[in-house]
Amino acid sequence: MNIAVIGAGTMGSGIAQAFAVCPGYTVILCDVNADYAEKGKGRIRTALEKLAEKGKMSRQAADEALAAIRTGANSAASDSDLVIEAALENMELKKKIFGELAEICGPDTIFATNTSSLSVTELSAYAKRPVIGMHFFNPAPVMKLVELVSGLSTPPELAAKIKAIALDIGKTPVEVKDAAGFLVNRMLIPMVNEAAGILAEGLASADDIDTAMKLGANHPMGPLALGDLIGIDVCLAIMEVLYSESGDPKYRPHPLLRKMTRGGLLGRKTNQGFFKYT
Ligand SMILES: NC(=O)c1ccc[n+]([C@@H]2O[C@H](COP(=O)([O-])OP(=O)(O)OC[C@H]3O[C@@H](n4cnc5c(N)ncnc54)[C@H](O)[C@@H]3O)[C@@H](O)[C@H]2O)c1
Repeated sequence: MNIAVIGAGTMGSGIAQAFAVCPGYTVILCDVNADYAEKGKGRIRTALEKLAEKGKMSRQAADEALAAIRTGANSAASDSDLVIEAALENMELKKKIFGELAEICGPDTIFATNTSSLSVTELSAYAKRPVIGMHFFNPAPVMKLVELVSGLSTPPELAAKIKAIALDIGKTPVEVKDAAGFLVNRMLIPMVNEAAGILAEGLASADDIDTAMKLGANHPMGPLALGDLIGIDVCLAIMEVLYSESGDPKYRPHPLLRKMTRGGLLGRKTNQGFFKYT
């Protein structure tokens, strides 16, 4: 099966790797231009080499997985069976991408999106076919969960097809209807937001907030470290979608998230968020 992944960033390259290591899948990894896509493939090369060095994968399997990935601009997605869009979390950009894909892909090509929070029903209008949410988690080659998000017009057969593909690459799918934040982010990101509020009010230190949730709720990682891993800007964007879609004040983004985003304290990717990284 030919898979096209649009957007060769953190998630796109992870999704490409998750397919490429499975027999029967070839991947075309696309970005705004071929150079960006090749950079994404470079990240996959490094990840596969590490896995081979650690003995978690044979050198031959790593080479075969890398060979199953080609790169190109978005136009190279035209002859794929399934397109998974993983560009930036921006509705206008995603609409534009699906509008262009609708022009170049055949009618049987399935359109999926890795959006964290945006409406798949809204995207379907621009794609001129039902778009299904295929929401992977970071890091995509490792994390087992895939949220399958059906919009208003998603036929059950399409959801069943995508579910079978997710199972085939070793993921565990859960099905959810189109709604802001779907399942995981609707619960998880407000927790990060609340932790930011507790920190901003000076009620506890960042270390103690995270220790409390690790030892008191048995979470593997504290909410502030998790926010740093996801990206403070990404957390803010998701809270904004939850708030604007529901109008419910319980989803109001905490001003600290906005301040940190404006100041470039985005978490691990900028070496500083709630915590410092070297
Ligand atoms: N980071 C996460 O933890 C996470 C988890 C699940 C889902 N997501 C979702 O996945 C998507 C991608 O997030 P990310 O963290 O990989 O972002 P990223 O910034 O790492 O990568 C985005 C990529 O999209 C590319 N891009 C921009 N415009 C494009 C266009 N017109 N055509 C093709 N590519 C284009 C960029 O060049 C970049 O390589 C978002 O919708 C995000 O909400 C992110």
